[in-house]
Amino acid sequence: MPEDKDIPNKENQPRSRSRRGGGRTRRRPTASPKKEDEDSPDEQDLPMKESSGSQGERASQNSSRRRTSPKKAPEDERTSSVSYVRRLKGKRPIVALTAYDAPMAKLVSNAGVDFLLVGDSVGTTMLGFNTTIRVTLDAMVHHTAAVRRGNPDCLILADLPFGEASLSFDRLLEACRRLMQEGGADGVKIEGGKDVADDIERLIATGIPVMGHVGLLPQTVKVIGEYRKFANDKEEAQDIFTDAIALEEAGCFAIVCEMIHEEVATELTRHLEIPTIGIGSGSGCDGQILVTTDILGLTPGNVPSFVKPYAQLATEAGKALGRFVNDVREGRYPKA
Ligand code: KIV
Repeated sequence: MPEDKDIPNKENQPRSRSRRGGGRTRRRPTASPKKEDEDSPDEQDLPMKESSGSQGERASQNSSRRRTSPKKAPEDERTSSVSYVRRLKGKRPIVALTAYDAPMAKLVSNAGVDFLLVGDSVGTTMLGFNTTIRVTLDAMVHHTAAVRRGNPDCLILADLPFGEASLSFDRLLEACRRLMQEGGADGVKIEGGKDVADDIERLIATGIPVMGHVGLLPQTVKVIGEYRKFANDKEEAQDIFTDAIALEEAGCFAIVCEMIHEEVATELTRHLEIPTIGIGSGSGCDGQILVTTDILGLTPGNVPSFVKPYAQLATEAGKALGRFVNDVREGRYPKA
């Protein structure tokens, strides 16, 4: 656990480059094309969490800073755009889940999530791999297209798979183009921080909404050696701040914070103007995302300790399938 003094905070952390007048003279374009007060949803459209806990406190602080507008955005814009997700910061917790195929997309969307991620976790949850590294772009396009065909009402983001951000900007752009044009994604999620920030800025300028991802980056597991908590010391906490600020500067509309020490994730959330979406990073983030098969009890093998199971569907499915096998063997199905 880091000491309090080790956690970067508003006092010891410079704001983003443009805001402290450094390297850049103007803020980079963001994926949210409209200003907040042009089409901010009314407070009644975005029910606030009760003012308890860190998220609730931030919500009330932030909402008093923001001006509400009588002008309402059209229903589809409000519920399926990155700018809508962006503007939820400080209003109420954002909630998201993964989906990998059409029926799952429909179920998850009907549950009322704010967005749905076609995660490269498809590799470990559905495709039988040990890590996400062997998930290819073709596989991601295939699963994203299936999710889109499930016709979910919410925003769909697709993970950029391993290696696609590293070769050249053209290759990265082509991968994102395929996820959006062939897969039907509304935007992409990219693992990494300051090293990919410039390319992300160019993608956003091309019209590709990007969600960042800092902390544990599962695509680097062969280098880091294990899935573990991040920001346990001052240096790692500082690196995460630097990466997240670079991503905000690049124009990301939100950032996934995976397995970051809770106090650091909370401080980072206070520091950034864009929402943080936590996974295994405690309750101080602006939102939460989990792997759907983990909470439904469908993931083969172990699930991370921070996951709360909401159902045990694999157990139920096993029982149902066993009943079918017995019914056929014992002549109860089909009925003569
Ligand atoms: O692939 C995935 O499921 C993810 C998680 C962080 C949600 O990236």
